[in-house]
Amino acid sequence: MHEYKKSFSITVRVNGNEYKDRVPSHMTLLQFLKERLHFLGTKEGCSIGECGACTVIMDGKAVTSCLVLAVEADGSSIRTIEGEAKNGELTPLQKAFIEHGAVQCGFCTPGMIMSAQNLLDRNPHPSREDIVEAISGNLCRCTGYEQIIQAVQSVANGATKQNNLVGVKSVGGGGDTEGGQPGGKVSEHNSKSKTGGTL
Ligand code: FES
Ligand code: FES
Repeated sequence: MHEYKKSFSITVRVNGNEYKDRVPSHMTLLQFLKERLHFLGTKEGCSIGECGACTVIMDGKAVTSCLVLAVEADGSSIRTIEGEAKNGELTPLQKAFIEHGAVQCGFCTPGMIMSAQNLLDRNPHPSREDIVEAISGNLCRCTGYEQIIQAVQSVANGATKQNNLVGVKSVGGGGDTEGGQPGGKVSEHNSKSKTGGTL
């Protein structure tokens, strides 16, 4: 048997729960999360570490899970987008994304939120430059980034409260807006699903 065909037993804690499995040596953490554990909120874009869609937090650090082998994650603690909202209550950052129109097609959103949340965890009051740096590895083709930066800033400034979501939000791009028109409205339900990684 060739070395690359070997499999290994791993134990990984994901969103507070422990999972044990046997994985092939070439399986990525992204594949492990999606195919073995069925955490589908983490997105796969480029698969080569350039888009940031697959970002999760591993032992307190934002990582692109397509570049981490599952065996490398053995013994680690992972946070995915599914673990952010508690009892259906979005985090202040997730709410801020909706409030500021930082969610359009939503493909980048789970990874973007994990990168931004990791920054806020390490530095609750980041500068604009800190925010830009933190999300520099996360590509967004829809928003132009400004709304995302404003969303993160609003949490850093304490402007986003726990329960101040509006029903619908006028936003500045296309994506899943009403009629697919730029400047249309993204429904609260739609945006919540995207920020929570369930859409
Ligand atoms: S899918 Fe991992 S960085 Fe693009
Ligand atoms: S890629 Fe960022 S919202 Fe569409």
